[in-house]
Amino acid sequence: MGKQTKIYLGFIYILGSALLYYLFKGYTLLDVQVSSLHIAFFMALAIVTESLQVGYRDTSISIGFAVNLAAYTLFGPFVTAIIVSVGFLFRITKKGDQRVHFLNTPWFKSLFNAMNMIICVFLASLFSEFIYPVPQYLYFSETVDFMNLLIPGVFYSSFFAVINAALVGGLFSTMAPNSFKHYFKELIGMTFLSTLSIGMFLGLILSVLFNSLGVTGSLLFFLPILYARYTFKLYVDMKDAYLVTIRALASSMDAKDHYTLGHSERVSEYSEAIARKMNLGYDEVENIRTAALLHDIGKIGVPDTILNKPGRLNEEEYKICQRHAEIGHSIVHGISYLNKCEEIIRSHHERYDGKGYPDGLAGDKIALETYVVALADAYDAMSSDRPYRTALPEEKILSIIAEERGFQFHPNVVDVFLSLKKDGTL
Ligand SMILES: [Fe+2]
Repeated sequence: MGKQTKIYLGFIYILGSALLYYLFKGYTLLDVQVSSLHIAFFMALAIVTESLQVGYRDTSISIGFAVNLAAYTLFGPFVTAIIVSVGFLFRITKKGDQRVHFLNTPWFKSLFNAMNMIICVFLASLFSEFIYPVPQYLYFSETVDFMNLLIPGVFYSSFFAVINAALVGGLFSTMAPNSFKHYFKELIGMTFLSTLSIGMFLGLILSVLFNSLGVTGSLLFFLPILYARYTFKLYVDMKDAYLVTIRALASSMDAKDHYTLGHSERVSEYSEAIARKMNLGYDEVENIRTAALLHDIGKIGVPDTILNKPGRLNEEEYKICQRHAEIGHSIVHGISYLNKCEEIIRSHHERYDGKGYPDGLAGDKIALETYVVALADAYDAMSSDRPYRTALPEEKILSIIAEERGFQFHPNVVDVFLSLKKDGTL
């Protein structure tokens, strides 16, 4: 763990503990105390909902925010901070085939999660109540004024999403090469999705139901929520199945050409690293990753005698081989899931100066995503053995890439690639 990360974690631990103490002092002054049975019930709900996460994109979505918001509107920030921290500490999630829980998670990670929640609950309630003061928390109050629930609910959820993305983004930026802005941008969409769009409405309903029907009513409410989560998980699993199919297709392609074993996976890996460093959005990175896996799919249409010919190809054979770009394009054309990959597959042998194939496009006529895959492809080709030559030394490859800046390759892509090489990321 780097020094910056240690300092950041220390700061979060101290701030979280101080805020918890401050909230505790304020809470003991309240007239109405929340029953420990109800706190235990909400803790159990928090643990269950945080455990039922669904992996989506680079992060995971849980319906745990519903419990967070319901607790806040019912009991206020102190009890909520405790409930939500316990939910994060004792959740049991799945990573691959392994179950992840606090016993096999490093203590500093668990502590960060708990303290992060305390800070988020405190600051979100502070800002929200500053803009729209809450007359009283809902806990078994006789009348329910829906506006007094909805407006603070929207403010609290929004602030919570922003603060959470900022704190987690801050931690990531101390551990990985990208900037805080990069991680914040990636996280904010995700946290808004699971707070405002899903968690907020579920949370408000849970709050009203608990207030009028108690523990039993809340439990009945959870059945449809679990069903909704199951449907969402099916959607995510289906997307994963697509990726597995594409991987299988790419590796069968590599197996056909003896000299390119593992080529597609490596090109995909390099392309993704370049795209991330260029701060491209999630969809663009995903598209680049998939297209890179499939960039040579058109080699299915090239005879094995040409692909595996020992020695150099003659002019006619070379022309046949070049057709793989167009063949690849026609293979994926019409598959809606892959329509954004079409251009990259067709144009991955185009050059910045227009001397490439199949269309001789140049400059801005080719998308940046295509240039990313083109450079990753060329780098891997030069660093592996071919029928007509052995792999080039790394230094030679890097100097060729630098020389081709603005000729074969897009200048920005070359700069990013060389900086990744310099800092050892690639
Ligand atoms: Fe190719």
